[in-house]
Amino acid sequence: MKYAMVFAALASIARAETGQEAWLRYRHQPNALPSVIVKLDDTPEINAAAKEIARASASLRGSVVVGTLDQIKRRFPEVVLPTDLQPNGYYLRSTAIKGQHLFLVTSADSPGVLYAAFACIRHVATGDDTFRLNETSNPAASVRWVNQWDNLDGSIERGYGGRSIFFENNNVVADLTRAGEYARLLASVGINGCTVNNVNANPRALTSEFLPQIVRIAEVFRPWGVKLSLSVDFASPKTIGSLDTFDPLDPRVIQWWQAKTDEIYRLIPDFAGFVLKADSEGRAGPASYGRTHAQAANLLANALKPYGGILIYRGFVYDHHADWRNLKNDRARAAYDNFQPLNGQFAGNALVQVKYGPIDFQAREPVSPLIGALTKTNQTLELQITQEYTGQQRHLCYLAPMWKQILDFDLRVGGARTPVNELVSGKTFQRPLGGFVGVANVGRDANWLGSDLAMANLYAFGRLAWQPSLSAEEIAREWVRQTFGTDKRVVDIVTKLEMESWRVYEGYTGPLGLGTLTDILRGHYGPNIESAERNGWGQWIRADHEGIGMDRTVATGTGFIGQYPPDVAHLYESLQECPDELVLFMHHLPYTYVLHSGKTIIQHIYDSHYAAAEAAQQFPLRWRALEGLIDEDRFAAVLNRLEYQAGHAIVWRDAICNWFLRESGIPDAAGRAGRFPGRTEAESMRLTGYTVKDVTPWEDASGGKAVACESPQQKCTASFTFHGAPGRVNIAILYFGLNGGEAHFQISAGDQVLKSWTAAEHFATKSLNGDSAIRLTIPNVRLQPNDVITVEGVPAGDDPAAIDYVEVKQ
Ligand code: GCU
Repeated sequence: MKYAMVFAALASIARAETGQEAWLRYRHQPNALPSVIVKLDDTPEINAAAKEIARASASLRGSVVVGTLDQIKRRFPEVVLPTDLQPNGYYLRSTAIKGQHLFLVTSADSPGVLYAAFACIRHVATGDDTFRLNETSNPAASVRWVNQWDNLDGSIERGYGGRSIFFENNNVVADLTRAGEYARLLASVGINGCTVNNVNANPRALTSEFLPQIVRIAEVFRPWGVKLSLSVDFASPKTIGSLDTFDPLDPRVIQWWQAKTDEIYRLIPDFAGFVLKADSEGRAGPASYGRTHAQAANLLANALKPYGGILIYRGFVYDHHADWRNLKNDRARAAYDNFQPLNGQFAGNALVQVKYGPIDFQAREPVSPLIGALTKTNQTLELQITQEYTGQQRHLCYLAPMWKQILDFDLRVGGARTPVNELVSGKTFQRPLGGFVGVANVGRDANWLGSDLAMANLYAFGRLAWQPSLSAEEIAREWVRQTFGTDKRVVDIVTKLEMESWRVYEGYTGPLGLGTLTDILRGHYGPNIESAERNGWGQWIRADHEGIGMDRTVATGTGFIGQYPPDVAHLYESLQECPDELVLFMHHLPYTYVLHSGKTIIQHIYDSHYAAAEAAQQFPLRWRALEGLIDEDRFAAVLNRLEYQAGHAIVWRDAICNWFLRESGIPDAAGRAGRFPGRTEAESMRLTGYTVKDVTPWEDASGGKAVACESPQQKCTASFTFHGAPGRVNIAILYFGLNGGEAHFQISAGDQVLKSWTAAEHFATKSLNGDSAIRLTIPNVRLQPNDVITVEGVPAGDDPAAIDYVEVKQ
């Protein structure tokens, strides 16, 4: 049916700023759009597009025409329209017809009209001159998805923004408003698919009892052109079917998957497909029957094929019981070793989803060599929006600069220019399918990811999946303008903070390609260097007293480097050419080895940790300059995170430097590592009730020890006498915030109470370590010689009000 509708502009209503609107705030519009909207069709996406423009627009100037190219052609035959739009590609054009000003928001298909509408709104919000717009834009790839690792019980694996917006108590939540809002956010940056449940899939997701509940999620996604997909458990025919096997070649298993797929499509006709993690980290897979990953993938792909659905097979397959004593073993080899031999054996509607690096979302990794090897297989690149190994949203770490390095990296397949973004989008080898998947893990927190500044990562993922040629900085600026407004100071300061943040994070965590150096066995958050060693997980760094790094060379090491095409292999194999930032990923070297920078490895470690921790001290100060230019709530919430990060950066700096100092025995040429002027260890204070505890790992506490106020104590104190010169000082205290209780603390100097607070942070640990360590600074305290500084701790539940040190900085 063809008809026209006119909307009136919706008045923008003042709302409290919780971050819930993310970048779709529609507040500051220097160049307001015309707000008479002519809608040419009635599909869910075109309706949503028209409504969205009505919601965003602020003044009346001409008419916005919203419809597909065909509809526009019929209505305005005199307009010249592009003929080369790809699926979902859009066209925006400001024009005049018969004296009437028209703004065309169009695409070859309905979802594309929605992307056109959001692009148009983006231009308005970022202050572009919309009256001169003439823009054609095609997406780089057809698969632009997010994965959510939501469990049906409502928890989210590696989620840091609250509980699931989809599930609770093994059911779909009653109120799916947030799920619909999420789809709107995704659509606004061109994302067209969302896998709603954890890759470590609960078989219940596919049961006939549960599927009708999933239908409700698909319904709230539909107006936004976001197709729903499900992660599946490969053993399902056995666990929820009545079969005694899940052998992918067994006709009963084939039939079971077909019947299950038919059932899904009866309920969700636009179902996007399945995601499968198999034979990985304990998940069931084809190996149980001696079958290949391709056979497993094709089983599901074939069932989906009649409906146009796709199967995404995780390439994240490795042996997590590898023998660390064998110097030839190497987890980094696993993805390539598993999938390269199967190149060409996957069905046309199957894709292999490859994590950007060969290990696992570390702060820095080289590009996965598998990406260059899948010349006859569709693939998607897996990026991680949720900051599992990059500070879990408590640390600012804008990942777009890292993603850009990956996307732009030239793998030189066949000796030719073959950048990663063209390989994964299918361009290089003319694959029918390809694209980008981001592990998002938004949750019920008002601001989605638990941190307003972290939302730049979700935004950037969508923008890069659409157009990988955008720069990280362009994207950041766009995002800031929409998120915090167009004031130049705001845009400049926030953009710079975002742009610097990844290198700063890398600088105080894992240097030179060693990986994040976090606790890989538990939370993946605080420092724990040796957790990577001497176990089957394969994130080894092979550090000893002499040197460090994995020898992955072909000549003497694991041979991993040989998985790259020759030009790249040569770059990494040769110490003369291997870039410093990855040198310890590729080589085992003595601490005294001199880098291209002219520094020894050990001095680089000290210097980078001190420099980056210092840079992190500046983050909250730089943010403070925005007071009054940003709404109070978000200003305060961000400040709080940046202040925490500044403290935690010092926890990281000290842990890493102390560990390397002890391990290498080589002092810091600048005399900083291991020396902490003004610091008094809690274990050497006068203690009442507190007992001294060893902290594990030792590097996570100053002196390896802390003091804890344990039952039956109700209250403990630790005090020392200040012997410095009189004057104003900053006092830092390192305490621990353990899960399972909210201890109370008070610090005083003489009879002056300096600060009194409750440890209300919720870290996922009940231990004293780098996850729970919090360094708090009390600025500008006046001290006199012989003042007695006292910390009083009142334990609560499982939190023993533990402290590590107090540091007085004059
Ligand atoms: C990481 C992560 C797991 C996740 C896995 C995956 O190892 O820590 O929680 O299940 O990646 O990507 O499958």
